[in-house]
Amino acid sequence: MSNPLDPSRILQTATAFWASKVLLTATEFDLFTALDAAAMTGGELEGELGLHPRASRDFLDALVALGFLERDGDGPDSRYRNTPETNAFLNQNSPTYIGGLPKMLNARLFGFWNNLGEALRSGEPQNELQQGGQSIFDQLYADDNALTVFLEGMSGIQGGNFAALADVFDFARYRTVTDVGGALALLSRLVAVRHPHLRLQSFDLAPVAPHASKAIQAAGLSDRIQAVAGDFFSDPIPPADVVTMGNILHDWDLETKMLLIRKAYAALPEGGAFIAIENIIDDERRENAFGLLMSLNMLIETGGGFDYTGADFKRWCSEVGFKRFEVIPLTGPTSAAIAYK
Ligand SMILES: C[S@@+](CC[C@H](N)C(=O)[O-])C[C@H]1O[C@@H](n2cnc3c(N)ncnc32)[C@H](O)[C@@H]1O
Repeated sequence: MSNPLDPSRILQTATAFWASKVLLTATEFDLFTALDAAAMTGGELEGELGLHPRASRDFLDALVALGFLERDGDGPDSRYRNTPETNAFLNQNSPTYIGGLPKMLNARLFGFWNNLGEALRSGEPQNELQQGGQSIFDQLYADDNALTVFLEGMSGIQGGNFAALADVFDFARYRTVTDVGGALALLSRLVAVRHPHLRLQSFDLAPVAPHASKAIQAAGLSDRIQAVAGDFFSDPIPPADVVTMGNILHDWDLETKMLLIRKAYAALPEGGAFIAIENIIDDERRENAFGLLMSLNMLIETGGGFDYTGADFKRWCSEVGFKRFEVIPLTGPTSAAIAYK
């Protein structure tokens, strides 16, 4: 009699960190940028990246088997090249590069997640906050290099969602947008290009603003997007027809979430829209595995943060006075949760 049970899903997930670490390390070594110009042999890549000959063949061929490299031929003279995806997204010379995210995951979260058990027992964060400080941002922004790694990591995860939001949300009805916690102003830049009638402000802490200004200037959008330095705890949110928050509410406990929702409400006119772009969990909390894992990531990263469902968002926003709600799927596990004043 055949056994109807199959352990392969368990084994695949149990060893998933092997594959994850191979991809993260390849990005850290900038393998996919090294392969930008031409395909290279294993020997050439050893020289270029400083790989030991004992390690290089398995590392490179594992990347082939995982679908992140292609190899022309077999044996020592065969040449490795990027797949269309790794060339587009993990080659630094590509305009659609998102390597900031894997680099941030490798530099910070891979190690912190090793302490998930401790976080589950204590409810305490397992990151830089262990060295003290009120918020992860105080800790990260004290060091300009850590700030850059973090901000570029954020951009990597949200770019596709912001582009989708620019397509699916009816920005034609509005004239102004404030993106709260706008980081490198990626949402503002993508929405501005798609909707030339809009004026936008990207609001974030003082250490972030010069980085945002630089990115806005490089995109040639300084006449329509302003990087505004401010603190959403001590300052009002700059008024606008649309207030967006990408991965902001999930950073904070319920009390702070409510404070931010109230501040968004105060910044909007009647009919204005408040949009949270997050990994909104399905109301039954059964399907959106990435959203639930992101919420565990907030356990690791923050003192009280957690991700939430569309029903949670609607309940919180109606308490504050918002009248109408919708959840629009963006890419993969991410949605736009929208409340209209
Ligand atoms: C998780 S990141 C999200 C960045 C971006 N919105 C996205 O979706 O990728 C949170 C952002 O909130 C900003 N932030 C944190 N505390 C803030 C505060 N008190 N006032 C303004 N911005 C703040 C951080 O600097 C960071 O850019």
